[in-house]
Amino acid sequence: MRFDAMKMMMSLVVMLMIMLRHCNALSMHYYIMNCPMAEFIVRNSVNSALRADPTLAAGLIRMHFHDCFIQGCDASILLDSTDDSTAEKDSPANLSLRGYEVIDDAKEKLENQCPGVVSCADIVAMASREAVIFAGGPVYDIQKGRKDGTRSKIEDTRNLPSPFFNTSELIKMFGQKGFTVQDLVALSGGHTLGVARCSSFKNRLKNFDSTHDVDPSLDTQFTKTLTKTCASGDNAEQPFDATRNTFDNSYYWALQRQSGVLFSDQTLMSDPKTRNIVNMYAMNQAMFFLDFQRAMVKMGLLDVKETGQVRQNCRKLN
Ligand code: HEM
Repeated sequence: MRFDAMKMMMSLVVMLMIMLRHCNALSMHYYIMNCPMAEFIVRNSVNSALRADPTLAAGLIRMHFHDCFIQGCDASILLDSTDDSTAEKDSPANLSLRGYEVIDDAKEKLENQCPGVVSCADIVAMASREAVIFAGGPVYDIQKGRKDGTRSKIEDTRNLPSPFFNTSELIKMFGQKGFTVQDLVALSGGHTLGVARCSSFKNRLKNFDSTHDVDPSLDTQFTKTLTKTCASGDNAEQPFDATRNTFDNSYYWALQRQSGVLFSDQTLMSDPKTRNIVNMYAMNQAMFFLDFQRAMVKMGLLDVKETGQVRQNCRKLN
């Protein structure tokens, strides 16, 4: 009898240990017990913001990418600069990021419903997924349970890819984060949404004193389009493809027509290492969607912190 009681106690302890371990691990249903409405609340905030301004879908997807590539997916991108330190968001590479107010809105609602539970890093990941779905892209599930980081430094953003990188440089940078060449081409398909500003591609055009020629990988007609856009100044916006608010494979069609906006887009078609993958996605949207969602799930797990704080306000440390 005493032996049975001891056995039961032991199995209870083991179960408790497994449960405690599980509490920290990422999972699809991480908030099921302590904030079951979490995904619903984020979806509502994103959908109402995107109904008012569909262009914000691009901002939210890009925000998740820029968050995960620097210090892992830990919402370091959301922290504001302080008197002693300039944050990632104030780096030139991040100045055109958009959608912070959508994250703030979701966070405020979540704090009312279940204070101190849902991390800002998870909100960014969920918001990005909702933005893909809203724009007509693949529907996929993501794990939750990321904790928020405490470091956000402008100098760390040098690890973001440059729009002037060639394929080999892109493969190297993405490879260092564990991405395959196919992941790189699929993730670049994020440029099916949104715009680039003239300052990100004007080096591909003939400059005013004609010291360099037009990028030979640019289509002649499209060169005229880009030149016309840039006539309105450095901040003038050029959509990446013909359907800037729709998540589809027309970005790859643009690359096939030598009409990629950034040098780092067109290089994927110019280089034999990636050309076949571009052609495959241009032909087969279902294949693009499948690879994109897999690569996004992988990106969403980059250097995730399973212990640490859940910020009360995504812009400030607790
Ligand atoms: C492959 C390397 C990449 C480079 C060099 C790159 C670079 C850029 C640049 C320069 C812009 C325009 C910024 C501006 O002019 O204001 C941009 C916009 C954008 N990027 Fe990327 N990017 C890359 C990968 C990605 C990935 C992996 C995603 C997401 C999965 C992504 C999503 C976006 C989106 C959605 C926009 C449009 C943002 C808007 O309209 O507000 N990019 N990117």
